[in-house]
Amino acid sequence: MYKDKPNHPTTRLKNQGNKIGAVILAFIGLLWLTGILRLPGLETLNPGSGLSSSHNSRSWASRKEAVRQAFITSWDYYAEHAWGMDEFHPISQNSKNMGCKESSKHSGMFSSCPPTGWIIVDALDTAMIMNLTSRVVKAREWISTSLDFSKVDSEMSTFETTIRVLGGLLSAHYLSTTFPNLAPLPDDDVGAKGEDLYIEKAVDLADRLLGAYDTATGIPLSSCILNTSIGVGDRGNSGAASTAEATTLQLEMKYVAKLTGEPLFWERAERVMEAVDAPRHVGNILPIFIDPNTGEFRGENIRLGSRGDSYYEYLIKQYLQTGSRESIYLDMWDESIEGIKKHLITWSKHSNLTILAERQSGLDSELTGKMDHLVCFLPGTIALALTHGATLEVARKSPTWGKKQEQDLILAEELMKTCWGMYLVTPTGLAPEITYFKLDNPPRSWNTSDPDWEMPRSAELTSDPEAPWRQDYDIHLNDVHNLQRPETVESLFYMWRITGDIKYREWGWQMFQSFLAHTAIYDDNGKVVGYSSIESVNKLVTAGGTNRLIAGSKTAKRDNMEGFWFAETLKYMYLLFDDDTSDWNDLEKIVFNTEAHILPRFDIGSEGKVWKTGWTRKERPIPKPGERGDSLFRW
Ligand SMILES: *[C@@H]1O[C@H](CO)[C@@H](O)[C@H](O)[C@H]1NC(C)=O
Ligand SMILES: *[C@@H]1O[C@H](CO)[C@@H](O)[C@H](O)[C@H]1NC(C)=O
Ligand SMILES: *[C@@H]1O[C@H](CO)[C@@H](O)[C@H](O)[C@H]1NC(C)=O
Ligand SMILES: *[C@@H]1O[C@H](CO)[C@@H](O)[C@H](O)[C@H]1NC(C)=O
Repeated sequence: MYKDKPNHPTTRLKNQGNKIGAVILAFIGLLWLTGILRLPGLETLNPGSGLSSSHNSRSWASRKEAVRQAFITSWDYYAEHAWGMDEFHPISQNSKNMGCKESSKHSGMFSSCPPTGWIIVDALDTAMIMNLTSRVVKAREWISTSLDFSKVDSEMSTFETTIRVLGGLLSAHYLSTTFPNLAPLPDDDVGAKGEDLYIEKAVDLADRLLGAYDTATGIPLSSCILNTSIGVGDRGNSGAASTAEATTLQLEMKYVAKLTGEPLFWERAERVMEAVDAPRHVGNILPIFIDPNTGEFRGENIRLGSRGDSYYEYLIKQYLQTGSRESIYLDMWDESIEGIKKHLITWSKHSNLTILAERQSGLDSELTGKMDHLVCFLPGTIALALTHGATLEVARKSPTWGKKQEQDLILAEELMKTCWGMYLVTPTGLAPEITYFKLDNPPRSWNTSDPDWEMPRSAELTSDPEAPWRQDYDIHLNDVHNLQRPETVESLFYMWRITGDIKYREWGWQMFQSFLAHTAIYDDNGKVVGYSSIESVNKLVTAGGTNRLIAGSKTAKRDNMEGFWFAETLKYMYLLFDDDTSDWNDLEKIVFNTEAHILPRFDIGSEGKVWKTGWTRKERPIPKPGERGDSLFRW
């Protein structure tokens, strides 16, 4: 999931390394005493140590159930105070719809400002896989009676609407039609449109979103007015679109094409890929802004964080979605990974943590040791790309598995560890929005010319409060908030499923407990009623036995609950602890869109039927030395 976070000039927070371990231990102790940690089936909590052999499948089932309970709590609180609304502020209990200026207590009146399903549709497939039947029935009823895109006249983000709402409807369609025992509907179709409901809404929405693609290059404008199907360019960033936004619509549009037999959806989405690839940037790592009218990239800021991230994710996922037949996307992914290694990977100064850095002014500019939490999708996606969803054990037997694959696996494992450290290093056990890293001067880089070169391996992330690894993490004051983002647990989920290493499950469980402890909000009786994003992962305010005071305080909480808490964070947590072997849960049969909506893989067929790749990559242009952006083209 992408959400932009501006990069502020910052004030550095003093390193708190030596205090952190003690505070974590003290806090865990406090939670233990207050009963927060006493969950069914959990006998011991062993912070900081990854592996534990004592857990049987029964305790994983109870952990899965704990995630389900958190979903139920969040959902029911939303349903009580803001049902149908697009935004929910759980502490003030205010809510509003997209495009409305004022936030207010829920009034049930939508006429001037209709809802878009921003939360309900986003949460729906998680409710389905959790088999929350009565809640799914209620959501479906709401979609049938209250969700009408023809009334939405505000400027909606083309990208966010596609991944959240279109993706959510498509996933609901796939799950409800293919797996009728998931949250089975007791009285299906009574005077209603039956299982066509989700697909009808999805096609209507996709059709309206096509208006955004009406540009000279086919690169969509960043917003779309749904009632008129008219695209609107970004008023900031001189009309430029985000690279990731333009290239993270394809899984959804191609699935709509497949379901409807209408090639237009396929062609419009595919054309964007061709336009973005046309300049053939070196290493296939792209600047984060592109002009929809000219097809030229804007600036030379290159990163896998906000505005860059899911371009890379959707390369490999497009390849997997259509039965591993469109090799063009695998080629692009492979080129990107090599480009990332060569130009963006470095290691931290004290402990050899692998860092996915940024080049903020082109490939010749200095590396900035900065990782948005958003980049933590990458380790899981590398693992997925390596095995195509199979287990490592199986993939290693393939004749194409070799040294490069083992090296990429180490890269995934090390990046996963760096992301986990972002959680481990703070007193709340939660990662900040952005983390900076101490690098060598000059920073080390991947040696692509030495075939025997071995990637540095990181030191153990020990619980010792003085451990040098802590000094490598540098959290700036502007970046201390946590929006309950999913990317690290998303990667833990892939790493667990693919490698089978139980430490990833343990890390996820530890992370989940930190979310429970620090993002919960409480009613006057000290009962947990919901969850909210928080202001600071570094500020540990403990007050009262039940933690109520911090919970209620707006200085500690941001008073917001994003749809992706339901759609992604809780879904990946749940699946991390889930041993269900149904097809909808089989990484070789599905792809998750970037909002964690579950879409089936399908075969485009070998005979060049309706669906086939409609473009080829251009030759790399010969660069003119010294021209603007030259460094991007040099090879
Ligand atoms: C879209 O909404 C605008 C503003 O409410 C309204 O003026 C216009 O008539 C609507 N258009 C359509 C096609 O519904
Ligand atoms: C979901 O719950 C229903 C009862 O509400 C049950 O009949 C069904 O088997 C459950 N499905 C799964 C997949 O557990
Ligand atoms: C890369 O490896 C080669 C061959 O061992 C060596 O000559 C070269 O100095 C190395 N480059 C860097 C940047 O370390
Ligand atoms: C970091 O990696 C380098 C090169 O692989 C190695 O020489 C060094 O000892 C490592 N440092 C630590 C702290 O592990």
